[in-house]
Amino acid sequence: MKNFNFHNPTRILFGKGCIAELKDQVPADAKVLILYGGGSAERTGVLDQVREALTGRAMLEFGGIEPNPRYATTLKAVEMIRENAVTFLLAVGGGSVIDATKFIAAAAKYDGDAWDILTSRGSVITQAVPFGSVLTLPATGSEMNSGGVITNPEKEAKLPFSSLYCYPVFSVLDPEVTYTLPSRQIANGVVDAFVHTIEQYLTYPVAARVQDGFAEALLRTLIELGPKALETPEDYDIRANLMWTATMALNGLIGAGVPQDWATHMIGHEITALNDTDHARTLAVVLPSLIDDQREAKREKLLQYASNVWNIREGSDDERIDAVIEATRGFFEQMGIKTRLGDYDVDADGINHIVSALKEHGMTALGEHNAIGPDEARRILEAAL
Ligand code: NZQ
Ligand code: ZN
Repeated sequence: MKNFNFHNPTRILFGKGCIAELKDQVPADAKVLILYGGGSAERTGVLDQVREALTGRAMLEFGGIEPNPRYATTLKAVEMIRENAVTFLLAVGGGSVIDATKFIAAAAKYDGDAWDILTSRGSVITQAVPFGSVLTLPATGSEMNSGGVITNPEKEAKLPFSSLYCYPVFSVLDPEVTYTLPSRQIANGVVDAFVHTIEQYLTYPVAARVQDGFAEALLRTLIELGPKALETPEDYDIRANLMWTATMALNGLIGAGVPQDWATHMIGHEITALNDTDHARTLAVVLPSLIDDQREAKREKLLQYASNVWNIREGSDDERIDAVIEATRGFFEQMGIKTRLGDYDVDADGINHIVSALKEHGMTALGEHNAIGPDEARRILEAAL
């Protein structure tokens, strides 16, 4: 196992009705800015629950944060924070709203050009306005991690950042608020959490038994419960398990002390920057092709994944690897997510664009061995057409 330094400071309030507990978590003397997305939180009544829990507090609201949150929108929120001396932020929404809130929290305390935060991947951040979240879409793990991704269409860029200052102080996870999710978003969430787990598991062995065992349990849970969530959208136990799985998939626990890949994500971000394809759908396209391409480097873990997650134990090594790649693709398709670039209108020209963008953004040594450069990315994308 590799050395690691693991600290996750985010308090989790989990379960039915726990939005009411906000009154004890948001500092009593805070001037609060509630941030939300395109209107789902208003329509579903989640915002009303939040307002009620915080009755009598000094509060402002900022709505309109887009899926794949836009840089220009975050700057408007920064202005509002500065003009109104806001001291605490509360994100109400999915990964996009929480990611945007992290960026806004850091940008509001940053004296230079906020764009530096993205070009430095977050390393220029030295402070942030404290913030909490009320999660409405289990997927990204943003509710219990320190990272985010911001899109700037003017620069054709979707860039990640992270900072120790960007952990939520707390996150409220009430599985009942996820009942209103359309099936497309349920599927996206399951596949995103699945690929987060894979990025930290399907690399090479380092004798990390706990991390591997946890990762395998998360993957098996998603495979079993993902399709059931589509069939029975108001089953509390299924929703609760999916919500906690997505959080655990990217809160640092399974990634501590193990090699990590993230090439699928970095290539996927460029597809979204190109044509706004949902994040999880880009992953479902890239991952099967990437693991096929990287089968030698990932051989041992691919065989472990086949056996421990999919119960594939028969046949030669290569047959089992072929079978587990097909099983993975089949799972994404079963969730209603297409796995070919052509399904998202990306052709050979689109691939040229994605490969140039990877170069422009310095994404030229991806993967656990830093071995996925522009040529490998092109090969992976061409095989995914
Ligand atoms: O905008 P509103 O109206 O709120 O609607 C949203 C949005 O249209 C809707 N929604 C959310 N909760 C709902 C709901 N609709 C009905 N009922 C509810 N309870 O769902 C749509 C998608 O929301 P979004 O927040 O965009 O989805 P997700 O949580 O999948 O977040 C995706 C973003 O997170 C980034 C992605 O790149 C993408 O920008 N990621 C963040 C990560 C992180 N911080 O660690 C890691 C991930 O790999 C990912 O890159
Ligand atoms: Zn993701």
